[in-house]
Amino acid sequence: MSGSTPALLWLLVIAGLSIAYYATKPRHHPPGPRPLPLIGNLLQMPKDHDWKVFGKWSKIFGDCVYVRVLGQPIVILDSLTAAHELLGQRSAIYSSRPRLVMAGELTGFAQGLALMPYSPRFQSLRRLLHRELTANMLQKYWRLHEDESLILMNKVLQDPTRLLEYIRHYAGSVILRVTYGYQTAPENDRFLLLSEKVMAAFSLAARPGAWAVDMIPWLRYLPSWFPGTEFKRKAAKWAQLNMDVVEGPYIWAIENQDSASLIQPNFLTTVLSQSPAVLSAEEKDLLLWSSGSLFAGGADTTVAALSSFFLAMALYPEVQATAQAELDKVISAHGQVPQLSDRPSLPYIECVLREVLRWNPVTPLGVAHLLTEDDVYKGYNLAVGTIVMVNVWSILHDPLSFPEPFEFRPERFMINDKKAVETLACAFGFGRRACPGVHFAESSMFIAIATALFQCKISDPVDEQGEPIRRDVEYQTGTIR
Ligand code: HEM
Repeated sequence: MSGSTPALLWLLVIAGLSIAYYATKPRHHPPGPRPLPLIGNLLQMPKDHDWKVFGKWSKIFGDCVYVRVLGQPIVILDSLTAAHELLGQRSAIYSSRPRLVMAGELTGFAQGLALMPYSPRFQSLRRLLHRELTANMLQKYWRLHEDESLILMNKVLQDPTRLLEYIRHYAGSVILRVTYGYQTAPENDRFLLLSEKVMAAFSLAARPGAWAVDMIPWLRYLPSWFPGTEFKRKAAKWAQLNMDVVEGPYIWAIENQDSASLIQPNFLTTVLSQSPAVLSAEEKDLLLWSSGSLFAGGADTTVAALSSFFLAMALYPEVQATAQAELDKVISAHGQVPQLSDRPSLPYIECVLREVLRWNPVTPLGVAHLLTEDDVYKGYNLAVGTIVMVNVWSILHDPLSFPEPFEFRPERFMINDKKAVETLACAFGFGRRACPGVHFAESSMFIAIATALFQCKISDPVDEQGEPIRRDVEYQTGTIR
């Protein structure tokens, strides 16, 4: 007995150490749907409404789901905690963007901030934008937002059937005025037309799985006469379009710095006034692409959010009536059209804005981040080069945080204000890549919403008998919804 005790003790110690070792040892990777050899989870990846499928996976596998598509590891995070822990607290290594050879490199879209890899150039661009886009700095543009909102609503009242087109014009005009001091033409503005072509080109260039060169990057080095290299000609054409849209308004603004047609204040003139008289090539590049990034980041997102607002008002007339009653009280006090300085006195309308962003998030899966170093999370290995996405849709439709999540209920932000508002921040992304235009977006949306509520009654269209025409509204699936 006395001889077997040390042996038993040793066995227990070894067993204990093994359990501790295996409990803390990084396992291969987080759980996820079972992959096939070589192609991985390719066939299981959803074609549309990805966030719904990913939401179902997270119920089975947890808030960190792993898939591999043709060798590319992807992690989908389905909780605010996981997103903050990785993209927020470890943002030094979770802030790059996935490589898109066709859309990013060959067509040049990765020269703009949103697709740019994490780099010193990225940091300089962000710093510049951040400095000019704080809530304080943006106050000088309030008047401009107010004027453009009135123009928008006057046009909508004249012809409500062109609502979406007018919202596009509004979002584009506000950004062109703020960024370059450029006043758009009421119809067929050359820069807005060009930007629509570029947006269309971008969605084609960024279509997942559409371009062999995205999977086999060395194809880009094939000469243009080589069979099957049509993609190179397309890329060259789109690259030119992209340069036209970035350089066009920039050159216009530089040439018109002393002209009366330049609207003041504007971003470009402000930055120029703080720069040396003659810009170095690097300074010029920063200015060109920071201005260009504002348009790329801000136009379609604002359009998506405002379109959801009009839809919500048609579907929820009681919300509209409550918001209008609040507005009436404030407006009758000063007897003018709504202004951005009214914002603190309009808490219900503030909640309408928040609910628009929650109810139908503009980017349901955020914008993908890329991990730039090996990492370990909850004992799982995450390899350098892993694409990390956050299911923003799922977080903003979690019934524990937002009861009856599919209903449009602005009141939810009044009752449980702080926590709900903190959660909503995920609609603008995470860590070092979080949207730098958040204050701009909110001012632009708030005044458009208040002006619309002040000027009109928003409802479904009616047929010849005066009966409302109800339609199921289908959103388009894409990075921006
Ligand atoms: C409702 C409106 C908007 C929403 C919901 C929105 C949302 C987002 C999201 C989710 C991202 C990616 C964040 C991440 O990667 O974690 C982003 C990036 C960006 N947004 Fe916004 N945005 C809006 C409006 C704007 C506006 C008005 C501007 C400019 C004036 C703007 C400029 C940008 C830029 C430049 C980026 C790229 C940042 C980077 O990659 O580092 N956004 N936005």
